[in-house]
Amino acid sequence: MIFDCNTLTAAELYPLLAGTIVPRPIAWVSTVDEYGRSNLAPFSFFQLVCDAPPTLMLSVNRKAGGAQKDTARNIAATGQLVVHLVSPADLALMNATAGDYAPDVSEIDALQIATVPAQMVKPPRLAHSLVSFECECVSLSAYPAEAPACDLILAKVLCLHIDDSLLNAEGRIRHDQIDWLARLGGQWYCHTQHEDNLTLARPNQATPRR
Ligand SMILES: Cc1cc2nc3c(=O)[nH]c(=O)nc-3n(C[C@H](O)[C@H](O)[C@H](O)COP(=O)(O)O)c2cc1C
Repeated sequence: MIFDCNTLTAAELYPLLAGTIVPRPIAWVSTVDEYGRSNLAPFSFFQLVCDAPPTLMLSVNRKAGGAQKDTARNIAATGQLVVHLVSPADLALMNATAGDYAPDVSEIDALQIATVPAQMVKPPRLAHSLVSFECECVSLSAYPAEAPACDLILAKVLCLHIDDSLLNAEGRIRHDQIDWLARLGGQWYCHTQHEDNLTLARPNQATPRR
């Protein structure tokens, strides 16, 4: 079956795209507004898009009517965010932070999530998070410009926090210990740690550089 994007509505296209381009990592993003009030929400339209400079991409949909979600509005106002990766134990809590909270209500306060100050930016860091990235926004663009459906955000990573349990004696990532929650289509999720995970050497390259 072929699906012609010119004949489908956004509501018809979303489950076809989001249900096939899987798994998607989840960015659990903390921000603050211009008054310093905190916000926390998950986003799976998220990726590492450049390592030099270290840059993440985040796509935040507009609400019905075109208003920005709190996360995009806060990033536009302050230029800062902290991106956390989500451990399986946080499934319910992560989902709860996607609830419909008023802009002046902090999901962090409402759900009593413990935080610690970030080192280089104002948004707080989740105290229990195993990996987080303190970032500054380098680009926020409404897309598409003529009728914005989302805000595309490029965020430069200023520093990484990686729990010692995920590092070996040489300070390298213990790949077999990394276990994040990732989004599949609809209400489906998966873990990145799985008994079928495997290793594969690149031709003529012991350790992949890219
Ligand atoms: C696992 C998961 C992934 C999500 N991914 C996205 C996404 O990529 N883009 C988006 O706009 N909303 C996404 N959402 C919905 C937002 O988290 C939700 O709209 C949230 O209320 C936005 O919060 P904010 O208004 O505080 O920014 C996702 C929700 C969940 C549970």
